Amino acid sequence: MNNFLKHQGRRKFVSNSFKISALAAMGSPLLARPSQTEEKVNLTQKYEPLKILILGGTSFLGPHQIAYALERGHQITTFTRGKTKPTIHTDKFDHVESLVGDREDNLEALKGRQWDAVIDNSGHRVHWTEKTAALLKDSVDAYLYTSSTGVFYPYLTENIKEDTQLVRKVPAGINEEEKLEYDYGVMKTNSELAAQNNFGKDRTLIIRPTYMMGPGDRTDRFTYWPIRIPLGGHVLIPGKENDPVQYIDVRDVAEWMIRLLEKKTIGTFNTVGPPSTTGMHGFIYGVHGSFSATCDFIMVEDHEFLKKLDIYWSIPWIMPIGNNFGSARINFEAAVSNGLTYRPLATSCQDIYTWWHSGIIDKERNEKLLMGKNGLMAKEKEVISAWKKKVKD
Ligand SMILES: NC(=O)c1ccc[n+]([C@@H]2O[C@H](COP(=O)([O-])OP(=O)(O)OC[C@H]3O[C@@H](n4cnc5c(N)ncnc54)[C@H](OP(=O)(O)O)[C@@H]3O)[C@@H](O)[C@H]2O)c1
Repeated sequence: MNNFLKHQGRRKFVSNSFKISALAAMGSPLLARPSQTEEKVNLTQKYEPLKILILGGTSFLGPHQIAYALERGHQITTFTRGKTKPTIHTDKFDHVESLVGDREDNLEALKGRQWDAVIDNSGHRVHWTEKTAALLKDSVDAYLYTSSTGVFYPYLTENIKEDTQLVRKVPAGINEEEKLEYDYGVMKTNSELAAQNNFGKDRTLIIRPTYMMGPGDRTDRFTYWPIRIPLGGHVLIPGKENDPVQYIDVRDVAEWMIRLLEKKTIGTFNTVGPPSTTGMHGFIYGVHGSFSATCDFIMVEDHEFLKKLDIYWSIPWIMPIGNNFGSARINFEAAVSNGLTYRPLATSCQDIYTWWHSGIIDKERNEKLLMGKNGLMAKEKEVISAWKKKVKD
């Protein structure tokens, strides 16, 4: 069995890969960011087929990991309660071994088994990660924990690198909304530590995605834009021109995770796009350029006006003030130096559009996103008329 810990070859590779990260961060011209083409050349490198266990695997990120891993000859086992059914790449699940249990209190199906790597997608409680990492540390070589940039909440600075201080506990005296943000960040931080404490830093890979988007997204956050803009007409755009936005196609994350396991890379990586610094208006023009629609953009740059209407975010835009100042100012150089690549925004937008209109989305969900009584377009209309009134007055 391929062993992440013991193989000399791996140790050599890992130390090389860290050297590369450090030099790239210092701006060595020889180690500039790989272009998409260079990365494709690297992808032809040989790797061993892996046995991969995915904790979760049937929701959003998992099906994309599975489709890519199977295509590259790996074997996949999932571990879930058997409740969430995949809505994308459904045909691939015939080739996946599915184990049933519960991360809360039933890990029986994982006992006495061996894998090369485990990907913990469903780590939503610290004790879940603690228990699976403790159980698997002698039978699995490497633990990949799917964390989040939420570990940096509150985002008070810019250029947030991997070693920026993480949030370890929820402060007293905060409001409910802030508490939710803190809870998630604290859970992710302590789960990262639970994985590292059991597997050791030299066998743990921590991946911290920002907002993920793409076909199969169950959150209907980013999805709004590639569904709304093709409809054209008066489109409300909240946020200042250069309010920073960050997001990443779920497939770029999923595929990179599998390649990292193939290359036996270990480390902690902020996993963020797009590759160039982007403001809200640049993003909107990018989405618009992906389609052919006549839009009249109503740019509402006035933060105070938006606050009065309780509009603080419309993913990927988050009003960059207070605790969210740096939420879209995350540094991702280390990930790029280690092979993270990006699809063009137009590809993501067109694929989301095709998926949304493939007959999979029910009427209620479509109305909630768009033209239903409480849909976002009803809200959009209200805000535009309030804005026009304010500008006129
Ligand atoms: N979406 C984003 O923008 C974003 C950004 C940053 C980080 N992340 C992180 O990315 C990860 C992956 O997200 P995702 O949306 O693909 O999956 P997810 O919603 O986190 O996990 C769902 C999966 O977990 C399984 N599951 C849930 N409860 C379980 C339990 N008690 N025991 C065993 N299995 C259980 C589900 O199957 P059953 O229901 O059948 O059990 C399903 O397969 C998450 O950790 C999330 O925090 C997401």
